[in-house]
Amino acid sequence: MKILIMNGPNLNLLGVREPKIYGTTPFETHLASLRTEFPSVEFDYYQSNVEGFLIDRLQQAMTDCTDGIVLNAGALTHTSVALLDALRTLNVPVVEVHISNVAAREDFRHRSLIAPACAGSISGFGLKSYDLAVRALTEKQ
Ligand code: DQA
Repeated sequence: MKILIMNGPNLNLLGVREPKIYGTTPFETHLASLRTEFPSVEFDYYQSNVEGFLIDRLQQAMTDCTDGIVLNAGALTHTSVALLDALRTLNVPVVEVHISNVAAREDFRHRSLIAPACAGSISGFGLKSYDLAVRALTEKQ
């Protein structure tokens, strides 16, 4: 099974960005532990700060045998109609993830524009949110 993990804007700075909210672990370190935890899953990883590049990568997933996507769209979660449209076009299940509990933060983080196009959402478990999303996808098969 091939799973694409996608991180949006500012998530390249995990480990140094607002550590009280997002922790001190760089995503690449967590990715290594995901690979150990799920040895039968082939992981692709993509991060971009650019909305259009994220959309290009999502479109690529339609034809490269990706079985599922774990998407943390960062702040674009709350603003991007373009990402919503891209997700609606996809023929691949997507789990929306957030490291922080967005429901417990500022009002503008309570709304997800992309949630209606996702199979489900996981929020608030730190980097474990990604593990839970991978588990959801592997058990969905
Ligand atoms: C985030 C939550 C978003 O509101 C924020 O803009 C992020 C990270 C999270 O993982 O908790 O960049 O998606």
